[in-house]
Amino acid sequence: MYSAIALVFGSLISAVISLDNGLVRTPPMGWMSWTKYYCETDCVKYPDACINENLYAAQADRLAEDGYLDVGYEYVHIDDCWMSYNRTFDGQLAANSSRFSHGIPWLANYVHKRGLKFAIYEDYGTKTCGGYPGSLGFLKVDADTFASWGVDYLKLDGCNVNLDQMKYGYPEMERHLNATGRPIVYACSWPAYLIDQQDKVNYTEIGNSCNLWRNFDDISMSWRSIVSIIDWYVKFQDKLAAGQKPGAWNDPDMIIAGNNEISDDQARAQMTIWSIWSAPLIMSNDLRSITPSQKKILQNRDVIAIDQDPLGKFGKMIASTADIQLFVKQVTPLDQLTGEPSYAIAALNRATYPVNVTIEPWRLGLQNPSGYSLKDLWTGQFKGDITSVDARIHFDIVPPTGVAFYKATIL
Ligand SMILES: *[C@@H]1O[C@H](CO)[C@@H](O)[C@H](O)[C@H]1NC(C)=O
Ligand SMILES: *[C@@H]1O[C@H](CO)[C@@H](O)[C@H](O)[C@H]1NC(C)=O
Ligand SMILES: *[C@@H]1O[C@H](CO)[C@@H](O)[C@H](O)[C@H]1NC(C)=O
Ligand SMILES: *[C@@H]1O[C@H](CO)[C@@H](O)[C@H](O)[C@H]1NC(C)=O
Ligand SMILES: *[C@@H]1O[C@H](CO)[C@@H](O)[C@H](O)[C@H]1NC(C)=O
Repeated sequence: MYSAIALVFGSLISAVISLDNGLVRTPPMGWMSWTKYYCETDCVKYPDACINENLYAAQADRLAEDGYLDVGYEYVHIDDCWMSYNRTFDGQLAANSSRFSHGIPWLANYVHKRGLKFAIYEDYGTKTCGGYPGSLGFLKVDADTFASWGVDYLKLDGCNVNLDQMKYGYPEMERHLNATGRPIVYACSWPAYLIDQQDKVNYTEIGNSCNLWRNFDDISMSWRSIVSIIDWYVKFQDKLAAGQKPGAWNDPDMIIAGNNEISDDQARAQMTIWSIWSAPLIMSNDLRSITPSQKKILQNRDVIAIDQDPLGKFGKMIASTADIQLFVKQVTPLDQLTGEPSYAIAALNRATYPVNVTIEPWRLGLQNPSGYSLKDLWTGQFKGDITSVDARIHFDIVPPTGVAFYKATIL
């Protein structure tokens, strides 16, 4: 399905150019340190909030024990600043020995014993964004090291390297990862460094090497940042949708739901729109001190099921007013005879006042002859069936900077 055959110099020698590692057929879910803890390395001043093994072990405990793993959050992601400033004498990466005193294999094993998977960070350039040793010149060594440590997922950033080199270097790392024989999910920051050169971004090419890719700016801890990502993704939605398929995902960056900087309505809005896109759900928050309401938002199984829908569609914004944007995504179940899909439908209210929304189903593309059953995914309430052509979908008052999120299941 992914393969393309290249004829080299007109001979019969052929090469299959494709990423076929069988991983992340639905978008990855997990927890990552970056947006909450950045590159905090002062463990004397911030013993519970610095990049060290205790932080990852503690968050792994919460994932496994507080219900997150049960609903799908599976990967524990180390981000930048975990390394020693120096490679070992034989060129291998090493963790900072005071902050990771048991070493990375110990931490990977700790994570694995809890039924979770272990994800690590590196950079394709000479140095990581935080100034630690990069992989340039060491791609094979680093792939082998990660495999030997029990790494299940690599995020490869793109600081400190010539942009034109990325189209060779990112695929090269995929070949080294593949050659280790260990299944390792491969997340590339490649297109995120080409924000201003969209003509150079070919998602088919990127998806032939990478399981997922960041496209745009890092998220930060604010509603404004969420909205800026939504605006950029909507602007390029046709191209993003065309480049996505199971195993090859756009990554709009971390879920910041679970932090006090955003309200519960804003947290529901982020979870909703990310699910419409089939985006990775990788939280960055402190699972030790999360509020019960935000925990419930992060663990909403109906919403997660839309994100993890096996069709893996990138849903789109299809209608808008000054305040409201309507997003629609085709999901399972499909009608067995006609193939007509079910739909997830989101109304995002960007205004600072509540808005009522009513829409005719056909405007959203809903045209199943026998109709749909409607469910509000945030309240869990059934909203009745739509069975006639002149039916209307009423979203209850959509809260300020919030959403309504329904599933219309074929009848
Ligand atoms: C390890 O990190 C600490 C800061 O927490 C730093 O002072 C030290 O130099 C680092 N050690 C190495 C070997 O990079
Ligand atoms: C470690 O790296 C730093 C800066 O990158 C360098 O100044 C130092 O000499 C290195 N130390 C060793 C033991 O190689
Ligand atoms: C390596 O690539 C081949 C061919 O695409 C694939 O069948 C295999 O599963 C891959 N192995 C790993 C470990 O990713
Ligand atoms: C994008 O990359 C694919 C795979 O390498 C290639 O077949 C296609 O022609 C490229 N598209 C453009 C517009 O360059
Ligand atoms: C919005 O809907 C609510 C409940 O359905 C209703 O009470 C209210 O009058 C509506 N507001 C407007 C402006 O239509």
